[in-house]
Amino acid sequence: MKNNVSFFSLIEQDIEILNKNLQNMVGAKHPILYAAAEHLFKAGGKRIRPVIVLLASKTTSDDGTILNSQRRLAEITEIIHTASLVHDDVLDDCSTRRGIQTVHNTFDTKIAVLAGDFLFAQSSWYLANLGQLNVVKIISKVITDFAEGEVRQGSTHFDISVSVENYIEKSFYKTASLIAASSQGAAMLTQKKEEIYNSLYSYGKHLGLAFQIIDDVLDVTSSSQVLGKPQGADLINGNLTAPILFTIAEDKGVSQYINREFREKNDIDNCLQIIQNNKGIQKSKDLASEHIQTALSCLDCLDQKNQYVIGLKKLANYTLERLY
Ligand code: IPE
Ligand code: IPE
Ligand code: MG
Ligand code: MG
Repeated sequence: MKNNVSFFSLIEQDIEILNKNLQNMVGAKHPILYAAAEHLFKAGGKRIRPVIVLLASKTTSDDGTILNSQRRLAEITEIIHTASLVHDDVLDDCSTRRGIQTVHNTFDTKIAVLAGDFLFAQSSWYLANLGQLNVVKIISKVITDFAEGEVRQGSTHFDISVSVENYIEKSFYKTASLIAASSQGAAMLTQKKEEIYNSLYSYGKHLGLAFQIIDDVLDVTSSSQVLGKPQGADLINGNLTAPILFTIAEDKGVSQYINREFREKNDIDNCLQIIQNNKGIQKSKDLASEHIQTALSCLDCLDQKNQYVIGLKKLANYTLERLY
């Protein structure tokens, strides 16, 4: 995330600390595992999940201080996320990530599976060392949810009967679950009222759903250079996301290309053309915007004048406007 995003200054120094800590945390001894970890500390990424944990932590403390356990949770969240990306890139056959070569592309699939496992295992170890059973329970469930989400996605490739509801459910498992649980976990660590951590869970859940919908829009509308990962990969893989699902509902003509799995030349281009000529992209953005409105309303129980609550709101709006 760039420094010019308005809420970033609230946690800029904390993100610097996080980046340094991550280097020490995943210092693998074997060079191959180190290469996987390199995604964390060299290529970076937007760090949106740690930003949420850090802001949620500041929100729930009386004087804006962040506990060491909350910093650790932010780091754990980013390690889990990166592990899921290493595995996701194998499943999606994705050659670049965060502007550099993916692990399976640099080495091979077996190494990438092990490297992802290694990162998940490291995150579990740090999670257990938090010594907070309630947080361990909610965060470890997220790792199960990834598998659930990825299997649901993998088993519905090129399936035009998938509904928007199925897609949202899958996106919960794949993406929103981690964001929800980490935002909730930050509040649990300050032992606040259940109402507050339930609200932060719902905030993270709806923000996460919007985040995935916008990721899916950007896959159609952006470029590989801006994204740092291959653009257009969802369609090629038969991963039917919001823009295409809304288009199918409007123009059945698009189904023929999907049903024959884009086998004929120009199928992808024709499909993209139909998406551009319909309202699928706008409808997806509207759906994301609805989830952001819900996320914002989840913050109603917090002090509306608190600068960190304002930061969480700005972050929610940024989710809709982001370009990568
Ligand atoms: C990518 O996440 C995967 C999704 C859940 C859409 P990010 O867009 O947060 O990826 P990085 O961490 O910035 O690389
Ligand atoms: C999110 O979905 C993947 C995970 C949450 C693991 P995508 O497959 O759309 O993510 P990108 O586009 O590869 O980053
Ligand atoms: Mg992917
Ligand atoms: Mg994507």
